[in-house]
Amino acid sequence: MEKFSSLARFKSSCPFLGGTKTSTLRALSSTISPRFPSISQLTERAVGCPIMGPALVMRSTQMVAGYASVAGQADVQKIHHNKGIFPGTSVSEADISKCPHASAARAAARMADDLAAASTAKAPELQKEVPNTAQKAAAAGCPFHKAAAAAKEQPVKSAAITETQPTPTVSDAYNYDKFYAAELEKKHKDQSYRYFNNINRLATKFPIAHTASVKDEVQVWCANDYLGMGNNPVVLETMHRALDKYGAGAGGTRNIAGNSAMHLGLERELATLHRKEAALVFSSCYVANDATLSTLGSKLPGCVYFSDASNHASMIQGIRHSGAKKEIFKHNDLDDLEAKLQKYPKDTPKIIAFESVYSMCGSIGPIKEICDLAKKYGALTFLDEVHAVGLYGPRGAGVAEHLDWESHQMAGQSSEPIKDSVMDRIDMITGTLGKAYGTIGGYVAGSHDFIDMIRSYAPGFIFTTSLPPATVAGARASIIYQKHHVGDRALKQVNVRTVKERFAALDIPVVPGPSHIVPVLVGDAGLAKAASDKLLHEHGIYVQAINFPTVAVGEERLRVTVTPRHTEEQIDGLITAMDTVFTELNINRISKWAKLGGRANVGTGMENVQPIWSNDQINTAGQPQTLHDGDTALVDVNAVQAVRESFEDILGAVELSETEWKVEAALMTGAVEHIAGALPKKVKAPRALVNLIDMPVAPAVAVSA
Ligand SMILES: Cc1ncc(COP(=O)(O)O)c(C=O)c1O
Repeated sequence: MEKFSSLARFKSSCPFLGGTKTSTLRALSSTISPRFPSISQLTERAVGCPIMGPALVMRSTQMVAGYASVAGQADVQKIHHNKGIFPGTSVSEADISKCPHASAARAAARMADDLAAASTAKAPELQKEVPNTAQKAAAAGCPFHKAAAAAKEQPVKSAAITETQPTPTVSDAYNYDKFYAAELEKKHKDQSYRYFNNINRLATKFPIAHTASVKDEVQVWCANDYLGMGNNPVVLETMHRALDKYGAGAGGTRNIAGNSAMHLGLERELATLHRKEAALVFSSCYVANDATLSTLGSKLPGCVYFSDASNHASMIQGIRHSGAKKEIFKHNDLDDLEAKLQKYPKDTPKIIAFESVYSMCGSIGPIKEICDLAKKYGALTFLDEVHAVGLYGPRGAGVAEHLDWESHQMAGQSSEPIKDSVMDRIDMITGTLGKAYGTIGGYVAGSHDFIDMIRSYAPGFIFTTSLPPATVAGARASIIYQKHHVGDRALKQVNVRTVKERFAALDIPVVPGPSHIVPVLVGDAGLAKAASDKLLHEHGIYVQAINFPTVAVGEERLRVTVTPRHTEEQIDGLITAMDTVFTELNINRISKWAKLGGRANVGTGMENVQPIWSNDQINTAGQPQTLHDGDTALVDVNAVQAVRESFEDILGAVELSETEWKVEAALMTGAVEHIAGALPKKVKAPRALVNLIDMPVAPAVAVSA
């Protein structure tokens, strides 16, 4: 009865059979088709439906081999024994009829044949004999019959094997190689196939890397080591010390032997950075986003996600994995977001997931306004600050901090939230340790109970080996350093402005945006790759081409990242090389895009976007000066001191030689300027005094004291 009442309910939505009376459907479903004896008349009709037909044919084919797969070998053997079936090297008709798996598979095969024939409206000859295909299908449903059938087809080498082992034939097996080749072919065809360059960034020569040949050096202009923290001396020093003390790996998951003081210290640091109650570290921010969103969305009853259309793949995956309903709002479009929020009652659990800096176009999310909407409609806010942490705000906590610059600056290093600040109004903040912080890992920060829930339920956190203590220590050192030193991110902004202005002066199109991202629009996948190749091979400049699906087709680009460590001469080289390549490849410039009606906001009169870093904010770092070739980069001794003090309880005090103390003292008393490499070239390992560690610090220390 239930079956038919459901049928009546659902049939009204079927454009194919919806017009048929329920009583007719009932009669059809219980009458065998005269032309196709293994199916009902209803099925015969349904096969003609463009939606259901192919699905029915495919499913029936899958069912053929599916019967015995649900039972273990021992169970199948027991059933055979009870029914008196002993298939050896022959497959008798009597055996097949007695065997529940083989006979069911054969029936399914017959049905598959009938469905296939019905779908092409060709009635097969009524079969008196069991056809060869059905005979084979019968065997496929049962491992023992399958072995017997295979043995019949091939000369028997070992009778013992055929009695117990199913022997798949090569022709039966799925053609995996063909599948891989077809998938790759699709990528080549739409020009989204990715070519990885062999780039080895050199710790002592940032931003220089060698390519496949160690002698072949190029300038890197697209790394996400945005500040050069991957080779900051105090980061390396801390990592060396932690490595010598705790070894290479974490030794287990956080639950089993992999939860150390280094991990706990980093989480405290992150919570303080974002002025939240707690934080949780993951292997990457991809994992942090995926694990947090999938766990939260699957746990919150009836949860609905509101996801910005330009969100990163990790958020998209997390939302998808949660199984929760999702609404995608147009990128940074508050009206569209509000229209979507309005559709749900206020007491429906909702999460708005978005980013602060969108890394491929350089736009910035309207964080404050999204918080207002969240409050109005009873939603939680989830903000990905991956491309902002270390780079924005007086302490490098991201755009949420940057928006309330003065109050955060006044609050200093306190962990207390600043009431009603943008950062305080965001419920969950995720970030990476792998970009501006120069190491690896990701995290989420939020309220104590929220973090504890994710810690307790998220498989992506629980079931994986935790990050090595030395890596975690390096990440924490990097955060502390940047919390105490605004100079790197301020100088970065100065260099970004220079590069954007100089491209604009040459009519070279940069997707307009207020952030540090410099996306040079090319507008064609092939051209973008050709431009990237030319820059690398003819000018020694490495900028990766960004193609679909990372950006929309037709908006392919070269995503340039400018760091505080790029020199004026290197900037000159980049501008000249880009100009040359644009001319040689005849790539559209801004004026051409304007004539074509614009693309990716280029050529639309929207070029003059105000940078989010004001002049005053840049000048909190003094007046940062772009480096010249041969200059030494600056290391802030106070920030170094803050790092060392933070690790003293676990790693002990850094032991310096007399000369090194002289340097440090001179720096601290202001007798010398902050000078690159103003750190000891050698640090004594705490346990092995004879073991001096060479630190790959940048250029030699210059002491004038
Ligand atoms: C916006 C955004 N979120 C998350 C991630 C993932 O971060 P991670 O590199 O730490 O996995 C990325 C990486 O590029 C990203 O761009």
